[in-house]
Amino acid sequence: MAHFKKNRQFGDFQTPDTLAQEVTHLLKQRYHLSPDIILEPTCGTGAFVRAALQTFPSSQIFGRDINPDYIQDAKQSLVTHPHAHHVTLQQGDFFTIDWQTFLSKGSSNILILGNPPWVTSSELSRLNSENLPTKSNHQNRRGIEAITGSANFDISEWMLFQFTKWLPSQTGILAILCKYSVARNVFYQVKQKHKAPFTAHIYRIDAKLHFDVSVDACLFVFRYEPSGGCDCHLYLTLDSSTPSDYISERDGHLVRNAIQYDTWRHLLGQNLNYTWRSGIKHDCAKVMELEPISDGTFINGMGQIYDLEPTYLYPLLKSSDIGNSRIQTYRKVVLVTQTTVGEDTHPIQKKAPKTWQYLSDHNQVLHHRRSSIYKNKPPYSIFGINPYSFKLWKIAISGLYKTLTFQLISPLGDKPVMLDDTVNFLSFDSQAEAKFIFKLLTSKPAQDCLDSLIFWDNKRPVTIDILRRLSLPAVARELGCLERYANWAKGIQVNSQGQLELGLF
Ligand SMILES: C[S@@+](CC[C@H](N)C(=O)[O-])C[C@H]1O[C@@H](n2cnc3c(N)ncnc32)[C@H](O)[C@@H]1O
Repeated sequence: MAHFKKNRQFGDFQTPDTLAQEVTHLLKQRYHLSPDIILEPTCGTGAFVRAALQTFPSSQIFGRDINPDYIQDAKQSLVTHPHAHHVTLQQGDFFTIDWQTFLSKGSSNILILGNPPWVTSSELSRLNSENLPTKSNHQNRRGIEAITGSANFDISEWMLFQFTKWLPSQTGILAILCKYSVARNVFYQVKQKHKAPFTAHIYRIDAKLHFDVSVDACLFVFRYEPSGGCDCHLYLTLDSSTPSDYISERDGHLVRNAIQYDTWRHLLGQNLNYTWRSGIKHDCAKVMELEPISDGTFINGMGQIYDLEPTYLYPLLKSSDIGNSRIQTYRKVVLVTQTTVGEDTHPIQKKAPKTWQYLSDHNQVLHHRRSSIYKNKPPYSIFGINPYSFKLWKIAISGLYKTLTFQLISPLGDKPVMLDDTVNFLSFDSQAEAKFIFKLLTSKPAQDCLDSLIFWDNKRPVTIDILRRLSLPAVARELGCLERYANWAKGIQVNSQGQLELGLF
């Protein structure tokens, strides 16, 4: 028998009674529910069972959990309750229970309520756990990947998506605590895969307060109904009555604020002249990044001091520098061994023998970098490098920080600044050009347009794909400076109708 108590593989975060009660009250008051059947598929020690019994005393309540001790605890907590006979609790594994038959047998006036496990497939892999669909873990894992579009997915996402397939139309409702990202992924999947109209609401909850974990969590309420707008209203708390955002799908993407998006949709499109890139990837900071200690002398991440030629060293600004506006000076330099991906590195030996010696001294570490991208590449290879990296002027934004703050980066010590691979940037030959594009990016229309696309709770909210969707010429047109844009954007001109077209060379 598996050891169950507080076992990570079971994503075990028991809901406090107070939160479960808040949820059932909200369901009764706001949704006017009076379900015949309530199902808590992973009921744990029974907070939602007790809350449901209190709020909906005439419903039949069914609870299941993989952990027999929890089922025992939940039963025990109900022994003196006058309506305890309305409750059936049984030990069972979510993945082996035939939910579809269960749901089709009883009344269709059903509420599926609870808080499924908070664990991801990669955590399960690390724990060597089989807490996944059973028939063929491998196949199902791939099945889930196909649904979630990701190799790492939350188990609750799969569970929730299953229920959306079987939920009786109009009379069935799903009310589940889960990660905010899980709720919107399920919303997106349903929107793409099921054609029936639905309503979906997300209420943010304070997971730190209720579960003592730093997770962006929510209550996800979902049902199929003919009048449903297929959008998802986001409420900042369980008591908010007006939505703060309207999550929806637009043009094949999930957007955070569909109303804001619709206002600024005309700013989206292609950028022919400027391409967002991400910074250098080397996967070996302790060797490739060094701090200058005196002229020509540097200390690496292992505390080793070396004299190195300046030839291959460039000032480095990392995400934390960009995110905290520390851009006037640099703390570190980075060894840039190539000017394009795959370039032969052997010329370093002649051009900068001390640098070559330094790299050779650390051959072992560099050779054994984990990522397969370094296999069959010249020694000491790096990625995210191209002539654009060496342009003197840049506009950069950290992918990790939760603000839309662009930084105009000037050369430091007469050299172009290099950025790490969590930073997104555009690069320019001249300061004037960089300043002009910086103005476009920091304008209100551009900021509002980008903001409508960004889910700020993501680990890397500001992605290169989002940045690439903003059309700089469209922003220039919006701000009335399309002609100036065309002056900078080589090969582009404005025609007599005020439209951009490719110029003749
Ligand atoms: C996040 S806890 C929440 C428990 C309860 N729903 C609540 O709200 O307090 C997740 C629960 O899922 C249960 N669980 C994990 N894997 C399961 C599985 N395969 N089948 C059934 N229950 C499972 C755990 O034992 C745990 O009680």
